[in-house]
Amino acid sequence: MCGIVGFTGARDAAPVLLQGLERLEYRGYDSAGIAVFHDGAIQVEKVSGRIAGLREKTDNGAGAPGAAGIGHTRWATHGAPTDQNAHPHLSNDGRFAVVHNGIIENYLALRQELMDYGYVFHSETDTETIVHLLEHYYNGDLKAAVMKTAARLEGSYALGILCTETPGVLYAVREASPLILGVGVGENYFASDVTALVAHTKNVMYLDDGELARLTADSVTVYNCAGQEVQKPVSRVTWSVEAAEKGGYAHFMLKEIMEQPAAVKAALAPRIQGGRVQMDDFDLEAKELRDVRKIIITACGSAYYAGCSARYAIEKLCRIPVQVELASELRYCDPMVDEHTLVLVVSQSGETADTIAALKECRNRGAKVIGIVNVVGSTIAKLSDHVLYTFAGPEIAVATTKGYTTQLVVLYLFALYAASKLGRIGMERYDALVKELQQLPQKIQQAIDMNWQLPRLAGRYASPSLFFIGRNTDYAVALEGALKMKEISYLHAESYAAGELKHGTIALIGENQPVIAVCCNEALMDKTLSNIVEVKARGAKVLALAVKGNKTIVSQADDVIFIPRVETLFSPAVAVVPLQLLAYYTAREKGCDIDKPRNLAKSVTVE
Ligand code: AGP
Repeated sequence: MCGIVGFTGARDAAPVLLQGLERLEYRGYDSAGIAVFHDGAIQVEKVSGRIAGLREKTDNGAGAPGAAGIGHTRWATHGAPTDQNAHPHLSNDGRFAVVHNGIIENYLALRQELMDYGYVFHSETDTETIVHLLEHYYNGDLKAAVMKTAARLEGSYALGILCTETPGVLYAVREASPLILGVGVGENYFASDVTALVAHTKNVMYLDDGELARLTADSVTVYNCAGQEVQKPVSRVTWSVEAAEKGGYAHFMLKEIMEQPAAVKAALAPRIQGGRVQMDDFDLEAKELRDVRKIIITACGSAYYAGCSARYAIEKLCRIPVQVELASELRYCDPMVDEHTLVLVVSQSGETADTIAALKECRNRGAKVIGIVNVVGSTIAKLSDHVLYTFAGPEIAVATTKGYTTQLVVLYLFALYAASKLGRIGMERYDALVKELQQLPQKIQQAIDMNWQLPRLAGRYASPSLFFIGRNTDYAVALEGALKMKEISYLHAESYAAGELKHGTIALIGENQPVIAVCCNEALMDKTLSNIVEVKARGAKVLALAVKGNKTIVSQADDVIFIPRVETLFSPAVAVVPLQLLAYYTAREKGCDIDKPRNLAKSVTVE
């Protein structure tokens, strides 16, 4: 996944592009570049490595004067992260420059066709085919050349285009990759997401797939795929620049962990009115829900683990079977999905390629789709029949935290809403659970406050191989806890259903083997306790996560971290927090790049 940005106005573009790229660096950061129009020519500057290198090369932009330009920060898909493969790419005649986020699936055929025409390629990228197509199709009408080029492309693309023939004009094109327009005063912008724009404007337009936009300093014109002008509403971004900044924390990840009480409150508040759960802009009738024979939750990574955690609440309360499926698997397994299947698609970015593909597969088979996403106007939001935004605010760290807990909370809200609609929950239980939901923000805050000693513990349990164990809801939490540890501290961590240990895995438990035992499901605490005894008998060192006041655990585990008492069905939203912090402090101890872990990107918009 990559980040693109564009600016056209009266002031120099390069400083604006560099600042925007720094806000997009979480989308990919193995190379970066800018192209600026000045004195009739396009100047391209690009580097492999971080944007800081581009700042240095362009003297913070002063070395690339000009009032219109495009920029790109890359997460390599085709071709290694080198200067040659970095974007922007320039046409052979030097008149066109392009930046691109996405994948051109037919690029090899296009490359051969263009080489046969005599175009010379300088990179290994799929993107370079685009700039040569533009040169090939241009006959004085840039919009026509852009449309003809887009018509040849198969795959996903958010494009930014600059041309020497049209000074001050940018084109932006969207197909299955996020692209947003910023509307300023005497200047206009495009970017892969709003965090690159909020410093300059909070007035944005969300491009839809198949649309292209022509930007000048004084105008933004949007066209549909037939080239007809379309009117797009201007939305107001509610996020502040500060919300997209670190706010004094050492890392975005720590900031976002600490923001969870507020984020969860933001997810809850608009949906609980007068003690009742209300769903935003849709009202699934009881009949529609009664027609649902099964629910599929599909997602990737942590969003998938959010589904694994929420499944217990939905099944318990709605008495509808729930399947939680990895999107990258669901799309290829000829899924048993029909008009009686309700699909909950969970995604922080709303742009994960596998999740989008799984969504389309289910819709094609007749399922109704509810999207549970954080990014407004994202692809998954647009493709869903109904959308429940998680209102987590901008999540910059690659490792999701508030994105995950707000997904959980929205899924819990859905469980209560549906159970009530179906008449499968008594008023007393319903009222009690609504109150439990409303207490989650402060319980998450308590979980944070209780675990001030975690930095000390992190050092004790940092090992090349870690086990996370739990049962039922605790197992689902263990899945997410292990992923957090893996992705930011690079330690091998595996989660196991605690009951499974004796079926083979316990053979791996040797002297001083660290085991993180999640024991917050009090109904199953004795069972997990027996697993703690089992592994300790074989030399393990056990860090237990338990509900405050649980003295039994204290007597058995080597160390214990606590959470406040919370409704078991909702306990994952609280139990995950100490595990997020454990991973954070372990990674900090190891000196890892916490916000931008190696090999990862914030949203995987490629398959
Ligand atoms: C989580 O920490 C990871 N960054 C990753 O697993 C992520 O959850 C996954 O890629 C799904 O992303 P999405 O929620 O934006 O679809």
